[in-house]
Order: sequence, then C-alpha cells, then structure tokens
Amino acid sequence: MLLETRALTKRFGGLRAVNDFDICVAEGEIVGLIGPNGAGKSTVFNLITGVLPVTSGTITFQGKDITRRQPEQVAALGIGRTFQLNPLFHEFTVLENVTSSFQLHPYSSLFDIFFNTPKYRRNEAFIREKAYEILELVGLSKEADELAKNLAHGHQKMLGVARALATKPTLLLLDEPLAGMNPSEIQHSLDTIRGMRDNGITVLIVEHNMQILSLCDRVVVISFGEKICEGSPAEVRANSEVISAYFGADYVC
Ligand SMILES: Nc1ncnc2c1ncn2[C@@H]1O[C@H](COP(=O)(O)OP(=O)(O)OP(=O)(O)O)[C@@H](O)[C@H]1O
Ligand SMILES: [Mg+2]
Repeated sequence: MLLETRALTKRFGGLRAVNDFDICVAEGEIVGLIGPNGAGKSTVFNLITGVLPVTSGTITFQGKDITRRQPEQVAALGIGRTFQLNPLFHEFTVLENVTSSFQLHPYSSLFDIFFNTPKYRRNEAFIREKAYEILELVGLSKEADELAKNLAHGHQKMLGVARALATKPTLLLLDEPLAGMNPSEIQHSLDTIRGMRDNGITVLIVEHNMQILSLCDRVVVISFGEKICEGSPAEVRANSEVISAYFGADYVC
C-alpha cells in the first residue's frame, strides 16, 4: 500500500472528529472519501499531512511511519494537497503562483540566488518550463500571465491543484476540488484528474459531488468520524439508501 492509516483518531476536546479510521490507497488508484458536512474528511487530510497532530493511531506512507512528521517533511516525502479554502497569492500571476510552489525543491543555493549565477538562471528557466507543463496539464497555460484574483472560480480551483502538483507529489490529496464549479468546469476537472493518474500520480479525493464516483476505483464513506461503508463506486451507489439515511434527502447519488 502507498498510504495506510490504522485506527486513526483525532479528538478536539470532547469531540471525536476522526475515530478509529482506517483507509488505504494503493499506488495508481483514485480513491474517493465522501461523507456529509463535518464528517471528518478535511481532518483526515490534516492528520495525514501533519497539519494537525494525531490523538492516536498510525499513518504509513511507502512503508514508513509518518504519524508524527511535520507538514514540510510530509510534503518532501511526496504527499501533496489542496485546501478546501484554496489559498492563492491573489496579486501574483498564475505562473508565479505555480513557480513559488517549487520552493520545496530548492535547486539553487542562497549564493546562486544572491549573485544571480548562471546556475540560478538555468534553474529558474527549468522551473518556469516545468510550471508551464503543469499549467498545460490543468488547462491554464493561456492564463499564465493573468493575476490569480482575476481568474474565474473554476480556474482558481485548478490553480490550487497546479500549485500542489508543483511539489511533485506521488500522492495528491484533493479537498473538494469541484466545489462551486459549473458543469463544464467540473467536466474539465474530472478529465484533468484522470490525466494526473495517467501521469503516475495517485489521488485521494474528498468531494460532496457524486460525479467523482465516475473517476474512483474505490470509495470510502465517512460519517461522524467513522467509516460506514467502503467499496467500488457501484457498491457504494447500491448502498444509496444507507447513504441517504446518513446524508439526508438532499444528498444526490
Ligand atoms: N481545528 C479544529 N478545532 C476544533 N474542531 C474542529 C477543528 N477542525 C475540525 N473540527 C470539527 O471536527 C469535525 C470534522 O470537521 P471536518 O472539517 O474534518 O469535516 P469535513 O468532513 O471536512 O466537513 P465539510 O464537508 O463541511 O468540509 C467538525 O465537527 C468540525 O467542527
Ligand atoms: Mg472539509
């Protein structure tokens, strides 16, 4: 398994936001993590990425225990993520937003940067080239020189994904990448996520929008911090009565 959590638990005071939660992701899979508001989905991401300390349980990535690693260590090991609130540098261009994420892979020493050495200039050119490749992948190459704040909402979400891709993840955690998107943006995003997998990136995706089921090899359903169902999209869909019982009538299956 690429990623595996065992009995993962997070308590906030008296609230068990994540309780005894097991999830595993094999290399090359797209796994969906779905559940109602407040179920603990983002908390699971925050635990895996070291943003929040776990209360108990373990997280293993590529066979290494990463349970108590710091966020920058987790990122350096190859776990990238997007955030539900999608923080961007709004006054920076699209390209600058992506190149600034490459800091995790410092190709230049301080000396090189300070003296603007040929090595530094080569590295900068390399980073720009890679950033353009990523923008191509997410469909934003035409917007490279646009300020992030001027992008349509769907494009801003894809820019968040592009920034995560710049950290060269083996495993990418996407937190509600489709939220607020219109139907054509959703279609484009689904194609982009498929394209990432074709580029060798494993994806764990949190979504409310059930259209992600068409992407997923496997789906895990979480409610009140606990896993209530796991299986193929077809199995989870077949379980729709159980799901609507948990999620309410307005939940679209
Ligand atoms: N830092 C925190 N401090 C205290 N409680 C928190 C914190 N983060 C999350 N919670 C609580 O933990 C529970 C799970 O929250 P979480 O954000 O993980 O849910 P979610 O499944 O991502 O929901 P949504 O679909 O609305 O994004 C909620 O009751 C939330 O209020
Ligand atoms: Mg959330």
